[in-house]
Amino acid sequence: MVIQVTSLIAVHWAIPNSTGKSGRVRVVPLYNCMSICLLNLGQRQVEGMSSQRNQMVNVARIREDFPILKRVLRGNRRLVYLDNAATTQKPISVIEAISEYYMNYNSNIHRGVHQLAEEATIKYELTREKVKKFINAKSNDEIIFTRNATEAINIVAHSWGVRNISENDCILITEIEHHSNIVPWQILAEERGCKLEYVVVNENGELDLDDYRERMDRNRVKIVSVSHMSNVLGTIVPINKIVKMAHERGIHVLVDGAQSVPHMEVNVQQMDCDFMAFSAHKMLGPTGVGVLYVKRDILTGMPPFLAGGDMIKEVDKYYTNYNELPYKFEAGTPNIADVVGFGASIDYLNRISMPAVRNHELEMIQYAMQAIQDVQGITIYGPTQSSVRGGVIAFNLADIHPHDLATIMDDRGIAIRSGHHCAQVLMRKLQVSATSRVSFYIYNTKEEIDSFVQALNDARRLFRV
Ligand code: ALA
Repeated sequence: MVIQVTSLIAVHWAIPNSTGKSGRVRVVPLYNCMSICLLNLGQRQVEGMSSQRNQMVNVARIREDFPILKRVLRGNRRLVYLDNAATTQKPISVIEAISEYYMNYNSNIHRGVHQLAEEATIKYELTREKVKKFINAKSNDEIIFTRNATEAINIVAHSWGVRNISENDCILITEIEHHSNIVPWQILAEERGCKLEYVVVNENGELDLDDYRERMDRNRVKIVSVSHMSNVLGTIVPINKIVKMAHERGIHVLVDGAQSVPHMEVNVQQMDCDFMAFSAHKMLGPTGVGVLYVKRDILTGMPPFLAGGDMIKEVDKYYTNYNELPYKFEAGTPNIADVVGFGASIDYLNRISMPAVRNHELEMIQYAMQAIQDVQGITIYGPTQSSVRGGVIAFNLADIHPHDLATIMDDRGIAIRSGHHCAQVLMRKLQVSATSRVSFYIYNTKEEIDSFVQALNDARRLFRV
């Protein structure tokens, strides 16, 4: 009986330690044993976290962990990396975790009964446990690994949306959304013949809550999908108020946490959102891994998105019984190495503590806003108060094209982003085709901001603005 055999696996009572030794081996149901192993490890990790809480970020020490930050670029310039909203750099522990998987225990997961398969399965599932704790989900069943946040949103639009949205319903998004939180809903709206509406953003870069309420009351809204933090304006939206307002009207809420989960403490139970999407690569982890969080009672009613291996319990010629949650939503061999690497990035952030990450970014944003404001000809987009801002500043300098400005920065070793930032709806609202953008993370320093401001002034002189 293939199904019974694959649901049993020889599992070590203790995960191998750094010396490679491990505890006794016995054959038990895989997933039951996993929770025992993970529980013990989880406790150790939480203890480590609490002892580090409230400490300031030691940026000099942190920078030592990121090999790329030592790079010297063309023109003999030291790298100043200010493009963290696009992707973050990786600490050595993440790089080593990925390489250790390939060097020591490369194997497929959930299938084999050999030792390598056990070790790979345990490490992969350990990351799921870490993600669950990181966002305070109720259960590991609610954590689905995807390729990225975009795929996570697409799963909800296709799997939940097709079942729950009909003609004359309404999907409510906002003008600050990334294309990944617009295009899947446009496609769904067209398929289902329903409305798609946008909550407006005001001049201070904040969502208009009265407009939210009016649109919810005026339409038969089935889902509200909203970015927790804008990747352009940096706005941190009042997510608790939005979720409450939606739930009072029986509306589901998807939170795009791509820019928030890496930068602040996010608690999905407290927020009470129904779905959340985010990506590993924006939080020190590798590319190619995302997370979809879904409340368990909603997930049980969702049909699978992709079909194939690993998402099944039993396949007959004409019907299939699907696997348990969350495996029903993880068809095919997943990105095992990078999920393992993602686990190391969560460990790294936990060691710093998320309140400390947020504090450091607040310090960076306050310092940068103050310094940039003094540059003649600058237009900064987004909220003026740093308390409702993440570590992102989009701006334009007189009529210098953002790509020209980014090139001048590049000549000085400073990596910034220019363009529409996958937010063309917002660009139209701001009446620009593009902006420049700097975005910060735990390894950035005030000295780097000084170099950036000096380069802005160099650009002004060069373009005579
Ligand atoms: N969404 C990423 C950004 O804002 C790629 O740059």
